[in-house]
Amino acid sequence: MRQDPLSYLGDELNALKQQNLYRHLRVLDDEQKAHTSFDHRSVVNLSSNNYLGLTTHPRLRQKALEAVEKFGVGTGSVRTIAGTMAMHMELERKLAEFKQVEAVVVFQSGFTANAGTVSAILTKDDVVISDELNHASIIDGCRLSRATIKVFPHKDVDAARKVLAGLPGGQRKLLITDGVFSMDGDLGPLPELCDLAEETGCIMMVDDAHASGVFGKNGRGTIDHFGMHGRVDVQVGTLSKAVGALGGYVAGTKALIEFLHHRARPFLFSTSHPPAVAAACIAAIDVLLEEPEIIDRLWENTRFFKSGLERLGFNTGLSESPITPVIAGDSARAMKLSDRLFEEGVFAQGIVFPTVAKDKARVRTIVTSTHTREDLQFALDAFGKVGRELGLV
Ligand SMILES: Cc1ncc(COP(=O)(O)O)c(C=O)c1O
Repeated sequence: MRQDPLSYLGDELNALKQQNLYRHLRVLDDEQKAHTSFDHRSVVNLSSNNYLGLTTHPRLRQKALEAVEKFGVGTGSVRTIAGTMAMHMELERKLAEFKQVEAVVVFQSGFTANAGTVSAILTKDDVVISDELNHASIIDGCRLSRATIKVFPHKDVDAARKVLAGLPGGQRKLLITDGVFSMDGDLGPLPELCDLAEETGCIMMVDDAHASGVFGKNGRGTIDHFGMHGRVDVQVGTLSKAVGALGGYVAGTKALIEFLHHRARPFLFSTSHPPAVAAACIAAIDVLLEEPEIIDRLWENTRFFKSGLERLGFNTGLSESPITPVIAGDSARAMKLSDRLFEEGVFAQGIVFPTVAKDKARVRTIVTSTHTREDLQFALDAFGKVGRELGLV
């Protein structure tokens, strides 16, 4: 009988189980919303990136349905062959206006936007200077580019300056940060990094995946929040989180976007968004512009929930956004916290190594504008009960 050449994977999985790093996928039985059902249990959902509740917003749903009726379910091609529809162009025009840039290109995800862009604009002769907590898609893009990768300690602009001082003058350099760091909820030091990029002639790039729809006027992101318009050369945003659907985009100059049309591999070699997704994203931009009160509600809920966790005595790190980590220490404790909360009717996913450092395992909470005060108080009560049980507070 043929021996399974993949049998070593089973050994790897057993090792993960022994280290409390094995993950079961929770299955959503209902819509992605603030109070929903996972694994047949009714829970307050603190685990989605659906910041504004747009996954189920009636205007997005309606536009997606109309697009399916009119254009079917798929595009059948990559953008550069037969897969560009008028609605892809409309979405890009709308996003460019929204982000106050010359042009935008949409990718199939935020991941492919980051990885496809960094790998397209750099070569093996270039250098990238990257925050140690930047998202995996940036790291993969850097690796694919074959540029030299210099990592600086989290948010440490002086350390980035020292790295830059040691580089030869003529080399092309990309300075890159997340706008909001996805596991800690803190913000990249954009004003200081933009100054540094200008002093040293770097290309400045910001991944605003978790800031899109959350920070800045009408959710324009951290560039708007910090008043950095015109100082960030490459902005990445996502359509998969607060925007409620799926996709990512790059915003910048016309030359950058046209170059990506010719060189970004996910744009060239992967099929474009189905009509329903493009239509929902267009509707989402209209919602951000016409219903900004949902962003105000998100921030009111964020303040209420964060202060509740702090009052209970949890270690919530240095978050400045609706992402609030509850740091538990080792992975076993973080997974126990998450599992016990789930039994109490609260879904807050455990996040462990290698996503975060071994001793900073946590549950990550994200409130949305659609949580009610009752939902949030219920969750706080559960955190208090389980936190006392596990000796965390
Ligand atoms: C900081 C950051 N960048 C990029 C992405 C990727 O976005 P998407 O889910 O649209 O692929 C994520 C999502 O996990 C993220 O947290």
